[in-house]
Amino acid sequence: MRVIETVAELQALADRERAAGAKIALVPTMGAIHAGHLALVCEARKRADRVWVSIFVNPTQFEDAAELGNYPRTREADLQRCRDAGVDAVFAPECDEMAPPASQTWIEVGEAARPLCGRSRPGHFRAVATIVAKLLLAAKPHLAVFGEKDYQQLTVIRSMVRDLGFDVEIVAVPIVRETDGLALSSRNIHLHPEARRQAVALVRALDAAEGAVASGEHDSARLLQLATAEIDQAPLARIDYVELCDADSLGPVGEKLADSALLALAVRFDSPDRGAREAVRLIDIRVLDPRRATSPR
Ligand code: PAJ
Repeated sequence: MRVIETVAELQALADRERAAGAKIALVPTMGAIHAGHLALVCEARKRADRVWVSIFVNPTQFEDAAELGNYPRTREADLQRCRDAGVDAVFAPECDEMAPPASQTWIEVGEAARPLCGRSRPGHFRAVATIVAKLLLAAKPHLAVFGEKDYQQLTVIRSMVRDLGFDVEIVAVPIVRETDGLALSSRNIHLHPEARRQAVALVRALDAAEGAVASGEHDSARLLQLATAEIDQAPLARIDYVELCDADSLGPVGEKLADSALLALAVRFDSPDRGAREAVRLIDIRVLDPRRATSPR
């Protein structure tokens, strides 16, 4: 497995692979590689001849210095996991290579960046769009693979690729979960064991809403109520948002669900001894389709 640190080297490799007729898939990550990331690698492997993973903790997409400082950095373990998963190359640039201090240019994303996480984190999605654009220009992949876990991010990237005419296919992979249903995330290790137990409230909330839709409940307010009630049962949970929006545009939904809707949750879990100072913010989503009855549970 190659480890590449400069854009120039990656672009040269992309040119050689493309000239030889190889299909390249890129899996962008910020490292702390877990089974969720590896599911993306696995999907990439099925669709391409070369699988490349980028590992770059993008400073501009973090809310503050503390969040950036706390982000797990596990380079050697990440490289080993990539090697074991049959990744052909890892792009692991230094900060200045991808985010030079003098950089002045941003990709401003429209409507899809505004609701949900965009409301509490202004500037986050333009930072994500900008770094993903740079990674696409560096790796020149035929396809790039993203997780549905970060559904709004996926929507923003799809609209950027469409609006700017990037010659790349965006592939989405379903959420990988722990056995109790909690979505895998590099943040989960920061949860206090009690908060970790309570965090299953997220998937319970999604299941409750999905179950209700399957049995004919299409009233948006009622579905939000059902989801919120599940989260409220976890004493350490503080809701950031519980929202329904259009699954394609992320625009508002009507009083009754007519088309596929995204139920999106963001919840902070406090630590029982350290309270909000050690809160961990988790997100989760489910696409609810009012036209399709789901299998009975
Ligand atoms: P990161 O949080 O490392 O996630 C990398 C990719 O893994 C994203 O596409 C994310 O949706 C996916 N992923 C994370 N957990 C997952 C899970 N449990 N199941 C399925 N997929 C999962 O997202 C980022 O990095 C950054 O914003 C990035 C796109 C790399 C830009 O900096």
